[in-house]
Amino acid sequence: MDYFSISGGDPLRGSVRVRGAKNAVLPILAAGLLSEETLRIPNAPKLSDVKTMLTLLEAMGCRVQRDDDGAVEVEAKGDIIWEATWDHVRQMRASICVLGPLVGRFGRAKVSLPGGCVFGVRPIDMHIKGLAALGAKITLEEGFIEAVVPGHESGARLPGGEVFLGTPAGPTVTGTMNVLMAATLAEGRSVIHGAACEPEVGDLIKCLNSMGARISGEGSPTLIIEGVERLGGATHAVIPDRIEAGTYLMAGAITGGRVRVEGCVPGHLSAPIDAMESAGYVFEMGEDWIEIAPRRERPRPVDVTTQPYPGFPTDLQAQMMALMALADGTSVITDRIYPDRYMHLAELLRLGAHIRRQGSSAIIEGIPSLSGAPVTASDLRASAALVMAGLVAKGTTTVHRVYHIDRGYQRIDERIGELGGRISRLSE
Ligand code: EPU
Repeated sequence: MDYFSISGGDPLRGSVRVRGAKNAVLPILAAGLLSEETLRIPNAPKLSDVKTMLTLLEAMGCRVQRDDDGAVEVEAKGDIIWEATWDHVRQMRASICVLGPLVGRFGRAKVSLPGGCVFGVRPIDMHIKGLAALGAKITLEEGFIEAVVPGHESGARLPGGEVFLGTPAGPTVTGTMNVLMAATLAEGRSVIHGAACEPEVGDLIKCLNSMGARISGEGSPTLIIEGVERLGGATHAVIPDRIEAGTYLMAGAITGGRVRVEGCVPGHLSAPIDAMESAGYVFEMGEDWIEIAPRRERPRPVDVTTQPYPGFPTDLQAQMMALMALADGTSVITDRIYPDRYMHLAELLRLGAHIRRQGSSAIIEGIPSLSGAPVTASDLRASAALVMAGLVAKGTTTVHRVYHIDRGYQRIDERIGELGGRISRLSE
């Protein structure tokens, strides 16, 4: 198993180009199931999660192709198996994104229930509610969701319908995507109220519309979908990964370096940039780049609450906590989306941080420096936070189980190395 060995203390300096967004490409690959023609993503990031999705689609009978330059193709022609097994879904929760396309196109789907994950229960009741509102009959048995469109054997399609998808924590991103994808091939018109407004949802809409779907309301909480009989192929470049961009900016911040993130959409990062500006960091921005200037003093403490987009993303919460661990004062981070997403907290304590948990919040008493130690990654974003902390901790930090980080950051060790960080990938 691979691990990282990091010698802390060097400020990161230079440019890094972000890749296509993981959370855009995964549902978009699943959208390939909606058509028998080819869907091509020229800029898919080389991530293990992308490989997992392609393996699932291949097991379902799709033709998939991955070129050396990162381009990916999916073609769902011929006999498609409308089932996703526990073996696939347990590897990656985003496998649930095949549910909506299968019901929409084939009128049938059997997908393993994903279960919980390290940061909480993560229900999928809204995915089910949404598909039922469009006209699917849903049963939950033996760990599977089975969705059937009545009369599908004789060619009946989903009728379409109207549904509110909000949860107490806000809208659901993949829930919105599943219902949206199913509704594209419904008989009639569907309306989703309380839809997620994340840029990745907008990117999926753009891709579906270029396949021939008729969706309006992109970027708003109300999406209107006029069902069409069939969708065609498309070539769609996915949006840049805003979480990857935010992570490199925060890595620049914590090391007191100057990092320019290229190929990003600055507008997608307004909440994290605002939080970092409150902490005293200064940014320069262009149309598709952001540069953080070095700050010699410790960051000022900033309270942050995660929220649905355009609020502060839960996927940058762990990284912000690493930064605040070194703040000149006490800050409070609250995760409203995933109140239990704090596996990184105990690992940051191993590096000397002073953090305590109180319900869905973490109270962080900033200290002047961290000291290196062995730590274990528990999930993707927690691993990124531990790498960031290791880059500034005194001495050596080893981050174990880095397969988590390879799920969502393409070659993070090499790229941090190119920015001057001393990090090496070793095997144990
Ligand atoms: N929720 C429900 N019922 C549902 C669905 C969600 O109550 O049916 C709740 C969740 O428990 C949570 C909130 O709604 O409190 C939002 O969850 P959401 O469904 O939006 O999460 P998701 O779609 O499963 C995506 C990303 C996550 C990211 C969240 C929140 C993908 C593949 N995953 O998950 O990304 O944290 O949205 O923004 O898009 C990551 O990249 O590290 C990651 C975990």
